[in-house]
Amino acid sequence: MWLDSREGQLIQITIDHIKNLKKTKKPFATLTAYDYTSAQIVDQAGIPLILVGDSASMMIYGYENTLPVSMEEMLLIVRAVCRGTQKSLVVADMPFLSYQPSIEETIKNAGLLLKKGGASAVKLEGGEHIEKHIKALVNCGIPVLGHIGLTPQSYHQLSGYKVQGKTPEGAQKIIHDALAVQEAGAFGVVLECIPNSLAKEITQKLTIPTIGIGSGISCDGQIQVFHDILGYSSAKAPKHAMQYDTMFRRVQNVVRQYKQDVENS
Ligand code: KIV
Repeated sequence: MWLDSREGQLIQITIDHIKNLKKTKKPFATLTAYDYTSAQIVDQAGIPLILVGDSASMMIYGYENTLPVSMEEMLLIVRAVCRGTQKSLVVADMPFLSYQPSIEETIKNAGLLLKKGGASAVKLEGGEHIEKHIKALVNCGIPVLGHIGLTPQSYHQLSGYKVQGKTPEGAQKIIHDALAVQEAGAFGVVLECIPNSLAKEITQKLTIPTIGIGSGISCDGQIQVFHDILGYSSAKAPKHAMQYDTMFRRVQNVVRQYKQDVENS
């Protein structure tokens, strides 16, 4: 729980709080949320950072991967999450092709996620090649969370969802990406599906927090998908999912019970 040390008041998490989490050397948990109720659950559980991930493409909108989800679809759920959040820092994912085409598009769309969505920061996938995009956003006062390693929006280019950075050249590229993202002014970086040893090396090299998913326990923090930790999706969770429950089945049992009760009344 986040309390102001003088007033004993609940406080809203800021970018500085997230950056300072690196100094505590205590791993911290972050999570996605996609609607008002799940945001309330996550926020009130004391999770410092909520990501409105473009994984909503599959989890909320039922698309096959993260490519189809649009700015309009993301904006709708970013707004709902912000309405359900009091303390956590809300980071909105920039959907596929909302930033890749140009710096102007990047600023316009990131701006909308803050102005209309109410988010406090945005997340972009990519390293060295989007350094300029990140710099431009930071210069406009828009905080950025980086995302390197396995970048699902490049699913086709990467020939599928595979662990990245397994070869010495691949590892070197990811280290360069991490340094570029930091140099550009990002306040943190997601490391998705890279070997533990590489995640450890990057975490030691960077002054900003690393937030891992499928990248071992040496990152400063971890991120998981809300539906994955709950077992709330009908789809098979990825190998790196930290699944704590089987909510899909349990909720379905409640629905069946209700149906039966009505039919038997
Ligand atoms: O969209 C997403 O859920 C993500 C992950 C890092 C959790 O980007």
